[in-house]
Amino acid sequence: MPETIDLLVHNASEILTARPAQAGPVRGSDLDSIEIIRDGAVAIRDGKFVAVGTEAELRSRYRADRELDAGGRLVTPAFSDPHTHLVHGGSRHAEWESKVLELSAPRIDGGIRSTIDATTAADDAELIEHTTAILDEMLVSGTTAVETKSGYGLSRDSEMRLLSIAAGISHPVDISSTFLGAHTVPERMRDDREGYLSEVIAMLPAARAVSDTCDIAIDPVSFTAEEGRRLIAAAEAQGFRLRFHADQTADAGGTAVAAESGALSVDHLDFVSDEGLSALAASQTVGVIFPAANMHLLDVTPGRGSRPPRDLVAWADRLLGSGAAIALSTDYNPGTAPCTSMQLTMQLAARLYRISFAAAWNLATLNAAHALGAGDSRGSIEAGKDADFVIWRAREHGQIVHRLGSNLADRVYIGGALAAERGRRVEEAE
Ligand code: NIG
Ligand code: FE
Repeated sequence: MPETIDLLVHNASEILTARPAQAGPVRGSDLDSIEIIRDGAVAIRDGKFVAVGTEAELRSRYRADRELDAGGRLVTPAFSDPHTHLVHGGSRHAEWESKVLELSAPRIDGGIRSTIDATTAADDAELIEHTTAILDEMLVSGTTAVETKSGYGLSRDSEMRLLSIAAGISHPVDISSTFLGAHTVPERMRDDREGYLSEVIAMLPAARAVSDTCDIAIDPVSFTAEEGRRLIAAAEAQGFRLRFHADQTADAGGTAVAAESGALSVDHLDFVSDEGLSALAASQTVGVIFPAANMHLLDVTPGRGSRPPRDLVAWADRLLGSGAAIALSTDYNPGTAPCTSMQLTMQLAARLYRISFAAAWNLATLNAAHALGAGDSRGSIEAGKDADFVIWRAREHGQIVHRLGSNLADRVYIGGALAAERGRRVEEAE
């Protein structure tokens, strides 16, 4: 007797399942392969994937209440985006243009401070409207789960305001909210770093009421490894899971501190030391990298970027070859990475890092879900996971990475229900 399911997605030229050969994120040379099922179908019940296989196989096992014809196109899991700064005021485009024309470098710490001023000047309604618009852009390009941080307030009241705005947003994209009081030292506390650290520690209990993850930036423009350790102990005592910005502008020893603390993710890694990378490779922490930030900070112009010149291909090769779990993310923010698209993120990763199509997809789907802390429920088309998937305007997965800048997502589904179609959010489920 065939089992009953709610929905059978059929007539897919390729289903890129991103199912791993073994549990956990995909690492090392395994990144260069990914499971593709040709002439595939997907069975869905109660908003979850039940099975994936060839159409012939699934038709013999299931009787569907409803069918969805993929039209001979590619079907993949939806993206998770594990590092964004959604809630902010203003735009830093003018500063960026001047840096482009001067052939000089955008500044990160000064930039954060200017966004703090713009965020303070914006009222709640503006911040909510802007955040919703960014989430809409993400959804229509195939992202159904995001992490977002505070960090553009850096005082108790302003950080709590940003966290409660994030918590109050009503949107089909799943939002997980992170407290980033330790983004950098605010101008008013420039001469009292210790005092600011104590302020952040004092904010932790209130922040914990509206977020379950705490991010600490260990970088020459932010905090030292020692200062980071003080915050880790206090955040852990409040029951926070940890994330880090680490070693973005130079090595500050942040990656090893993050890996040793059992963090969910450690992000940027641009100047990670060999010791830091070994510690990461030996841990369960996921390292998150940002091709849009590499591009936008003008790192691709030798000697004219925000950071010392370096070979991004060799850097990415070193990270991926170390066996560490690595993921891609947009790092959406108004300064270093004004990018909302995981498609563009994969496209830039392939070009800047010279990685395979399979690696780009592994890093943007399953590994990104693990970096979000959602590897058990998202990131691949496999039995038991949330039925979040994309039907593309393409037949093969390589076409999405090969294209540059278009949104090729045709329809985006959340829990088996249509959430966006041809660049527009669908208000009611199908
Ligand atoms: O790229 N240390 C902070 N780095 C942030 C910068 C955000 C911004 O420029 O506003 C990041 O994630
Ligand atoms: Fe960031």
